Amino acid sequence: MDALRIISEDHNNLWRLATTVDQLAAETEGGAPLEVSFFESVFDYLDQFVERSHHPKEDDFLFRLLRLRSPHAAVLLDALQADHQAGPGRLTALRTSLAAAADGHMALPALADHLRSYTAGLKAHILKEERQVLPLARSALLKEDWDEINHAFMNASDPVFGEQAQAKFRALYHRIVSTAPESVGLGGHSAGSLPSAGAKVEADALLRVQGMESCYGRIKALKGISLTVRRGETVALVGANGAGKTTFLRTLSGVQPMSAGTIEFDGEDISKLRSDKRMRRGICQSPEGRQVFGPLSIEDNLRLGAYTQPRNQAEGDMEKIFTMFPILKEKRHLPAGTLSGGQQQMLAIGRALMGRPRMLLLDEPSMGLAPLLVQEVFEVIKTLKSQGMTILLVEQNALAALDIADRGYVLETGNVTLTGTGQELISNEQVRAAYLGM
Ligand SMILES: Nc1ncnc2c1ncn2[C@@H]1O[C@H](COP(=O)(O)OP(=O)(O)O)[C@@H](O)[C@H]1O
Ligand SMILES: [Mg+2]
Repeated sequence: MDALRIISEDHNNLWRLATTVDQLAAETEGGAPLEVSFFESVFDYLDQFVERSHHPKEDDFLFRLLRLRSPHAAVLLDALQADHQAGPGRLTALRTSLAAAADGHMALPALADHLRSYTAGLKAHILKEERQVLPLARSALLKEDWDEINHAFMNASDPVFGEQAQAKFRALYHRIVSTAPESVGLGGHSAGSLPSAGAKVEADALLRVQGMESCYGRIKALKGISLTVRRGETVALVGANGAGKTTFLRTLSGVQPMSAGTIEFDGEDISKLRSDKRMRRGICQSPEGRQVFGPLSIEDNLRLGAYTQPRNQAEGDMEKIFTMFPILKEKRHLPAGTLSGGQQQMLAIGRALMGRPRMLLLDEPSMGLAPLLVQEVFEVIKTLKSQGMTILLVEQNALAALDIADRGYVLETGNVTLTGTGQELISNEQVRAAYLGM
């Protein structure tokens, strides 16, 4: 049921976009400058992505087959498809309101109202599909239906669903992030993109943890964790607040004592090595809450990430980080404390990359970020993954993390309770119920 995962992920992204539009509508009404190019880029994205990709996925495949298999679906689907058909007209009306507000012919609160009524409609539509259509599809569609849908959605050369179309949608989304004001985006500049390298190589385990235990005083926070990460793999460790995710990463990088268990990295037992030695071996972490050094400049924060590396490579590496995150280059001499949350997260990832990781540990990179930036951070991680980086990603945002992960582990109060491929975990009812609620 990869197809349903794709549709749900679309819904998640649209939901975040709607939330962002609501926030900016409120700011505009409250006296902030009208962000014309931001709203225009949102409308362009909705025009292109929703009309050309998301709706065809539903209308031409999911809904069409559901009508065949479930006689009761027609009423529900008729209403949703009528809504789809009204989409372009609604966007045209929004563009008209935006232009009128930009010219001073429409009051800003009226524009805000128009935007909010649009996003309320969008959200209601998404909820109806998530709560009614997707469960119905799960129960009513046959294996041959899924084969047909999945085949269409996964076809890399398809003009609607294929890689080229996806790249175009990503570019449109980048434009939204780069035109968004700092309260919701990165602040007026592109988040940049990495040139994509060749396919990753998969081989045997790079990291093998067995029976890891760790305590705070008499409280055992990790009760025997075993976990493997293969070369080039992205592994997600998900679980609720307090499950022990951060403790696991800190124990792995050696800043938290391990009371039992073994850690093997690239065939070497590193259980007794000090944390700086582990970093030299290539285990580099972007910590929870980012922990950038506020008074130091962006450049100096990045240099700190390279302290285990030969001096002469730091400047070259920093330029690479700047290509990836142009906003950091622009602000390179400013104190890191002046950066927004999203920018600080980019800096924290950049600082970890300065250590030339062979395995990158990311502790809740999406935590506390504006909704628009959550997706942006996951795009950065996807790009690193596509370049062959081995990544251990810790997240409470389970759906997004499992979606980009090859495999995942679910952690509950210090124990691994489930493991499987990212897709297996996403479709697991227990996981869905516990972590994926929208
Ligand atoms: N410094 C600490 N002192 C005592 N207990 C701690 C400390 N840090 C975390 N814990 C406890 O260890 C457990 C795991 O915490 P943590 O690893 O931070 O979880 P997560 O990252 O999954 O939210 C929690 O019960 C938490 O209360
Ligand atoms: Mg944590």
